[in-house]
Amino acid sequence: MDILIVEGNGPLSGTVPISGSKNAALPILIASLLMDGSVNYTNVPRLRDIGTTLKLLEVLGCPAEMDDAGNVIANPCEIAYQAPYELVRTMRASALCLGPLLARLGRASVALPGGCAIGARPVDMHLTALEKMGATFNLDAGYIEGVTDGLKGAHIAFPFPTVGGTENLLMAASLAEGTTILENAAREPEVCDLAEFLIQGGAKITGHGTSEITIEGVSELRQPKGASYRIMSDRIEAGTYLAAACITRGEVLIQNCPVDSMEAVLAPFEEMGAKLEEREDGLFVSAADRLKCVDVKTLPYPGFPTDMQAQIMAVMTLAEGSGVIEETIFENRFMHVQELVRMGARIKLSGRTAVVRGVEALTGAPVMASDLRASASLVVAALAAHGVTAIRRIYHLDRGYENIDAKLNALGAKVRREQE
Ligand code: UD1
Repeated sequence: MDILIVEGNGPLSGTVPISGSKNAALPILIASLLMDGSVNYTNVPRLRDIGTTLKLLEVLGCPAEMDDAGNVIANPCEIAYQAPYELVRTMRASALCLGPLLARLGRASVALPGGCAIGARPVDMHLTALEKMGATFNLDAGYIEGVTDGLKGAHIAFPFPTVGGTENLLMAASLAEGTTILENAAREPEVCDLAEFLIQGGAKITGHGTSEITIEGVSELRQPKGASYRIMSDRIEAGTYLAAACITRGEVLIQNCPVDSMEAVLAPFEEMGAKLEEREDGLFVSAADRLKCVDVKTLPYPGFPTDMQAQIMAVMTLAEGSGVIEETIFENRFMHVQELVRMGARIKLSGRTAVVRGVEALTGAPVMASDLRASASLVVAALAAHGVTAIRRIYHLDRGYENIDAKLNALGAKVRREQE
């Protein structure tokens, strides 16, 4: 197993290019299952979860190939209905093929995603909403078995603006009969990116980006001849490099930074004292002085994203004063706290709230990555710590960060991999 060895090496400086968004690419690639004819994508990040998605598509009768430049061609042929446990267990987003398979085949058999380190993460809202459209579900031998004799438009009010649920329903409703209205829909930019992809293929969707989305079902979706779809840049990856620049008091140009979708991320960093300047080719970040702690509460978009909570916490461990971080999206997303404490951070946890008191210095230590964003926070902290940090279980990191070691080293960091 790979270990990431990070030596604190002073301020980061230079330019870092941001890759395509993982969370946009996953549903958009899965939406290939809805299309007639082949589909071309560009700016797909080279990540483990993307590899798993391509395997899943292949098993479902839609072989897809990716080249080194992040271009993918998917060829939906004989669509199959069973998403096997071996693939689903490594990636919960596999549940996103329920909607497309029911719309396409009237049948879906998708392994129930297992437990996850950051909370229970059930898919009950996806199922209840699809039931409203005329699907019925059974749990059989660990598989969610869904059938329908044709999905019909429905008025669906989500109890919570679930990102995956909204995406599943967008895909299902695009090929259903009649009109679907999604109330309390997720407004995340990745949901909008999926909607734009479906619209390019002929779907009739309005209201995406607001909490009420209307989808008028069509009988066929097809990417226009000669077209390709470019996946949006990854706002969480960009935010993670922003955190890395700030904690090391560096000066970094974040290229292809999706600034428009990052208002709630940029605001607390500015409040902490970071200087942010939007330039033609990206976001320029500088943080020469010690930053100040702030209070942060995670919320659905357009609020502060839960996927940036761990990274901003890492930055606050070395900032002046104290700040309160409240996690409202996932019930168990503070697994990085104990690891940061091992590096000398002062953090008190109480339920869904963490109080961070900034310290003068962190010290490198052996630590363990527990999930994707927790791993990112450990890397961020390690960049500014004295001495060497060895991060174990970094396969989590490789699920979501393209070439993180190379990108950081190009900014002057000292990061390498070792085999255990
Ligand atoms: C997506 C993102 C993830 C991000 C999250 C919240 C992808 C691949 N993943 O995850 O990185 O952290 O949005 O922004 O895009 N819930 C239920 N029942 C359901 C669905 C969700 O109780 O049927 C709960 C979840 O357990 C969680 C909350 O709702 O507590 C948010 O989940 P959701 O918005 O669905 O997140 P994901 O789509 O899983």
